Amino acid sequence: MKHFLKENDFSNDEILEVFDRAAHLKQNRKQGLANDLAGQTWGLLFYKNSTRTRVSFEVGINELGGKSLVLDQKTTQIGRGESIHDTAQVLSRYLHGLVIRTFGHEIIEEFADHANIPVVNALTDLLHPCQIYADCFSIAEKLGDSRDPFASLAGKKLTFLGDTSCNMANSWIMAGKLFDMKVSLAGPQDFAPKPDFHDLLNNEGMDCDFQFTSDPNEAVTGADIVYTDVWVSMGSEEEEESRIESMKPFAVTSELLSQAKPEALFMHCMPTHPGLEVSQEVLDSSQTIIFDQAENRLHVQKAILAKLASDSAT
Ligand code: CP
Repeated sequence: MKHFLKENDFSNDEILEVFDRAAHLKQNRKQGLANDLAGQTWGLLFYKNSTRTRVSFEVGINELGGKSLVLDQKTTQIGRGESIHDTAQVLSRYLHGLVIRTFGHEIIEEFADHANIPVVNALTDLLHPCQIYADCFSIAEKLGDSRDPFASLAGKKLTFLGDTSCNMANSWIMAGKLFDMKVSLAGPQDFAPKPDFHDLLNNEGMDCDFQFTSDPNEAVTGADIVYTDVWVSMGSEEEEESRIESMKPFAVTSELLSQAKPEALFMHCMPTHPGLEVSQEVLDSSQTIIFDQAENRLHVQKAILAKLASDSAT
């Protein structure tokens, strides 16, 4: 069974297929519904809050002719300790696919191990691959051709600032390898990529080349894309005060952004916290493409779902 849990779960040819389909779906959205998921019901199992991911998946499944069913751990028997093994087996008898947002990456891996339907990673503490594909599509759209992400992204420098141990930073390191980008990370030393992520790279046989520095100016110099994310990820709320204090030097201000290339893109997966990881001035600037990123979640995820549905039918 084909799942989408990590950036490298699709081959280069499959990535081209997904991006081409996403571009087509975006271009033709107004012309009506597609039927890739006709007669299907996909579950959305969310252990964490979400606006973009949940809504874009629900709308996307609907626009592909399917139905969605939103589930959470509190109101299902998962919250009372039913095993992932049994839950995955049972849900596979009802549903045609399962989109999961959860905490530990091992949870989604266990679901995928026991499900007989495609499982999609809608964010774990380790990776956020749907966001990354939508972001790469958005960059290609702005700097090249969204149907040809490899040519559009190759050699581009992406600088990620702030909590460089978070799922988005990890996902960018993997995307850097897949799309031949230069990934530069800048954050406090305590928030460098963590051993569990290095273990994942080793398991995947991915030899990723990235720079880490605690000097934000050095990291941003010459960047084509400047990216940041929330400093206090879901599940880290107890560390809020100390995280904010240590990450202040890595806030994306107009002054810092001016060290990048003049036409550099500013990106953020949202939700944003103006005045913390990014200034309002940067968010209001013409370099910001955050709403294109959010929109492209819809088109790219539809293409991912269509691909998984088609592969599981054969
Ligand atoms: N970027 C993102 O995943 O947004 P949500 O948490 O709102 O889904």
